Amino acid sequence: MIETKRWNIKNDKTYNHQAIEDAAERLKAGKTIAFPTETVYGLGADATNEAAVAKIFKAKGRPQDNPLIAHVATVEQLRRLVDDIPVYAVQLMEAFSPGPLTYILPNNGTCADNVTAGQTTIGVRIPDHPVAQALLERADVPVAAPSANLSGKPSPTLADHVWADLHGRIDGLLDGGPTGVGLESTVIDCTQEIPIILRPGGVTKEQLEEVVGTVMTDPGLANEKEKPKSPGMKYRHYSPEVPLWLVGGKPEHIQTIINKEKTRGNRLGILASERTAGLIQADEIISLGTDITEIAAHLYDGLRKFKQGDVDIIICEAFSEDGIGQAVMNRLKKAATEYIQ
Ligand code: TXA
Ligand code: MG
Repeated sequence: MIETKRWNIKNDKTYNHQAIEDAAERLKAGKTIAFPTETVYGLGADATNEAAVAKIFKAKGRPQDNPLIAHVATVEQLRRLVDDIPVYAVQLMEAFSPGPLTYILPNNGTCADNVTAGQTTIGVRIPDHPVAQALLERADVPVAAPSANLSGKPSPTLADHVWADLHGRIDGLLDGGPTGVGLESTVIDCTQEIPIILRPGGVTKEQLEEVVGTVMTDPGLANEKEKPKSPGMKYRHYSPEVPLWLVGGKPEHIQTIINKEKTRGNRLGILASERTAGLIQADEIISLGTDITEIAAHLYDGLRKFKQGDVDIIICEAFSEDGIGQAVMNRLKKAATEYIQ
């Protein structure tokens, strides 16, 4: 057991707090610190320190072949980690950084080898959250940070989620309140002539195309037979404690399935939009929000709320794949044990 220091800076709107100074010092000393970003909480360590990075893999139980994203505060710092930034990547950085977009670029070897897990490329991101920004500025080193959950679990959107998964396994946790987007960054491969989305996320395909024209999506995301280009996308992920059924169609279709499972004696937890939640009858319903942006922000908390022992099956409504719905449905399809369309 490691003692996990928890700093509460939720209500400190200046973020110019001793806590960030302390956390940055610990990062520089090779320790692991969880911190909020605008997507999800990250578990950070000095990306130039191999032993510190190894602690991330250990704390999360993360497979060794799954590379980490290096986080920096500015484009200038980002340039120090990579070679050959294509023109379209520069345009994307101007439009979306800081923000929920991760660029895959040729690695120049500044970061420790275990950050890239054997890839010749490295993922780099400039997060847009005041706590993340302040921490990265003070630490003044690139910070390797995957989502701060146990490997396989839904990513954390609240400090309590990080605490539930990792207290006793990490050195510190900066509690900056709920994250914003609620889903991870979009990962975009910038090593080819045309940019390729390897993981849908906070920046939508439509937004990317407005800036650089055609953007492709990794065929491995849609087609089970093809291997995804991003090592992380091959794992089953985001799994709640109980089986998750993703159910499409109208509210009446969801109701039919609820009724059938109830007769069978199954206790159900329902996740749905506000509108659908108002139209169906069930014992436990969590409304995720009125629109897809709110649904994205509340999805992982919803998946964590239904616990083993309380419900036997989680039934989640399937949403439209427009805009950030693409990322929402990508996560749900990975988390689901069944998809009833
Ligand atoms: O929003 C986010 O991206 C959060 C916050 C903390 O920044 N981080 C995050 O990291 O989601 P993680 O490790 O949970 O997911 C990173 C994804 C994985 O699927 C990984 O395989 C992929 O990015 N990735 C990282 N480096 C890569 C590389 N060089 N080539 C291909 N995929 C890479
Ligand atoms: Mg993750």
